[in-house]
Formats: sequence, structure tokens, C-alpha cells
Amino acid sequence: MDTKQIIGLFGFGVVGEGLYNVLQKSPATRAEIKKICIQDINKPRSIPGEMFCTDYSAIIDDPEINLVVELINDAGEAYKIVKAALLAGKSVVSGNKMMLATHMEEFIGLQQQTGASLLYDASACGSIPVVRNLEEYYDNDLLLSITGILNGSSNCILSGIFNGNETYEQALSKAQQMGFAETDPFLDVSGKDAVNKLVILATHGFGAIAKPEEVFVSGIEKLNEFDIRFAKEKGFKIKQIGQATKLNGNALNLLVMPKLVPPDDYLFNIEKEYNGVVIEGAFYEKQFMFGKGAGGYPTGSSVLSDITARMHGYRYEYKKRKYFNIPELTNEVQIKMYLRYSNLIDFSYFEFDAIDEKYYSKPYNYVVGSINLSKLLPVMKLLPALDVFIAFFGRPEVSRKTETRKAFKTGEFVNR
Ligand code: HSE
Repeated sequence: MDTKQIIGLFGFGVVGEGLYNVLQKSPATRAEIKKICIQDINKPRSIPGEMFCTDYSAIIDDPEINLVVELINDAGEAYKIVKAALLAGKSVVSGNKMMLATHMEEFIGLQQQTGASLLYDASACGSIPVVRNLEEYYDNDLLLSITGILNGSSNCILSGIFNGNETYEQALSKAQQMGFAETDPFLDVSGKDAVNKLVILATHGFGAIAKPEEVFVSGIEKLNEFDIRFAKEKGFKIKQIGQATKLNGNALNLLVMPKLVPPDDYLFNIEKEYNGVVIEGAFYEKQFMFGKGAGGYPTGSSVLSDITARMHGYRYEYKKRKYFNIPELTNEVQIKMYLRYSNLIDFSYFEFDAIDEKYYSKPYNYVVGSINLSKLLPVMKLLPALDVFIAFFGRPEVSRKTETRKAFKTGEFVNR
């Protein structure tokens, strides 16, 4: 099957324009953009004006258009477009992670109902083909965890600060100028953008659909020079990490948090707008994927790959939901955490089970200890108002190797 894709494109921002140019440079691709729906028809554009329209129906009602590519910022408007397109029987390629994470279950239902297909590899980790790999290569129950740097802008900021050449503000402004940051960069630095991506990865990796607002998230906004000194003295870097971990029984934990990353971690050397994903499984232990996570061309290339996949009739089957037991989401997981604080009232919100290290000074103190994520969850909403920064080291050191071997020996298949 090789069906020419006649595309109706929504949005001509960084990624939309990136896709347009990528398509021009890929002449063998049997796909052509017929119309581009935009908000502001008067804005000067780099391509002929007759391509543009402002009315959704010019695309949705055009019978020749067989593929809608949705690349707009507004998740609410994107939802309306994608739903209308699927209901009109048109397949869709989208990069809108917030919309996808919020409406994942409904979109899976709409694809089944209409027979139209929705592809979105560009929505998580830009140019890294992680969604299709989780869906196809990892279509078994050996997957144990997915851990990644999922947001290019926060990684740019952390790189700029750690390499000592930029302040937080300078690095953020650079990420904005380069077109990496969201329109509201709070989504990048707060970890919320990474949560949306993690929800998408967990759907294809494990079959569980989490509600973004139920995933524990803390951001890098409160990071200061004290935290950086702490990390540097220990030989660590701080990276914003999203992690989905299979636990004992059929349970799954998702979290997004700054992490103190040691030099032997694959994610240690991921700098600037690059993303990296470490996939851990029984038998193969670790695999690693790396690539640009933000920017018009890298994301446009990923959209192009979904367009060519549609040329060949590709669709997601959501295999983990179809053929395996869907894991229960849980926050009953112990993590080792660094907490920097200034006053005891702020400290009192954190119920550590054990403290390994304490340090008092003026104006900053810190503790490193073990805490259960379920006890941290109620503090999540208070975090913006507290004068604290938290980062985790990972789950208490357990060797997956030993655990996996032990579990298979005893016939207990599911790992911690
Ligand atoms: N703002 C996002 C990032 C864009 O920085 O990763 C790509 O999803």
C-alpha cells in the first residue's frame, strides 16, 4: 500500500514551517501540503499566500485531503480539530503532547470507532522515534522502566547553568529565541510538558493511561547556586527526568522530577536541546535512544516520518492495552531525595522515613533521605509557595540484574 498523502496542515509556527521545508527537501515522499490553516492571515509568511486559510472547514470538508497534520499550540483548539478530522474519517498526525495526554483514552476510542488513525511520534522527544519503537519493538511484557530527559528547554537551561556560562534567565531566554520553549515556558521548567510526554510513553510502553494531573511533578524553577554547588561537589549533574517504572506485582509508577545524575548514567552527557531515553528490560538490561528533542527541523522530521508511515497505512494498535494486563498506577514507591530548605516550617511538610545526610548553614540547609512518593504527593501543590528545591537520586539502589535473575529463578516474572 502506498497512498499519496494530500495534507491539510494546521499551524505554521516553528514546527509547521520546519515540516514544510523538510517536505520540500524530501522530493521522493508522496505527500503534498494542499492547504494551511492559520490564525493570522495578515502575518508575513515565507511561502505563497494562496496556500493559507483561516477556516477549519476548508480542510475538514475537503474530500481530497486524506491527512490532517495538526501543529498548533493551543491544546483546546487542537482537540477540536483532531476530533473533527477523525470523525470526518481523516487520519491525523499531531505533535500536541498536552492535547494527547489529556484526551488519550477518547482518541483511542475515536480511532476504533472511525477507522481513521492518529499518529504522534513528534509529541514525545522530538526527533527520537520512541513512540513507534515502544509500540512495535517493545511489544512484549519485558519492559521494566522508561527514564528520559523529555524536555529540551529545561535541559538547555540546566546545561547553560552547569557549564557555568549562563544564568537561569539567560539560558531560558536563549531556549525561547531558538524556538524550543513552549509559548508559556512555565510548562517547560515546571516539568508539566515532560509529564504529558511521559503519559504518552507510558501508554505505549505499558498500556496504562495516567491522568497528567495525577503524576507527581516538580520543576527546576527553584534551583539555585547552593543546589548546583551540592551537585558539583558530589560529581553529579542535575537533569529534569521523567520516569515510568514497573513495580512489584502489576503496578506502575510515573514521576517527573529533577534528578541528581551520576557520571556513569547515560543521561549525564545529554546537553542542550537534546533528549535521551533509557529503556530497561528483563534480559536486555538497558538500551538508550538519543536525539534532538525540540526545534522546527528535528520535530518536522518526526512528523514527516509519521506522514510516510501513513502512506503505508500504519496505525497504532495500542498492543500493551490489547494483549497484556494493564498495570495499576501507584505512588507507593520509595525514593532517595535531596531537599534544600531555609526554614523549619517548610521542612516540616516532608515526611522522610530515614535521613542519611543533614547539613545546616545560613541561609540554606539540606537533607538527603528516603521518602515515599505517596507522602510527597500531597506536598506537590504547595511546592511553588515553599522556599525549597527537591531532586531525587532514583529509587534506593537495587540491582536490576540481581533482581531479574532472582525473579526468573523463582518463577516470579514481574520485577520491582
Ligand atoms: N518545549 C518543548 C521542549 C518542545 O522544550 O522540549 C518540544 O516538545
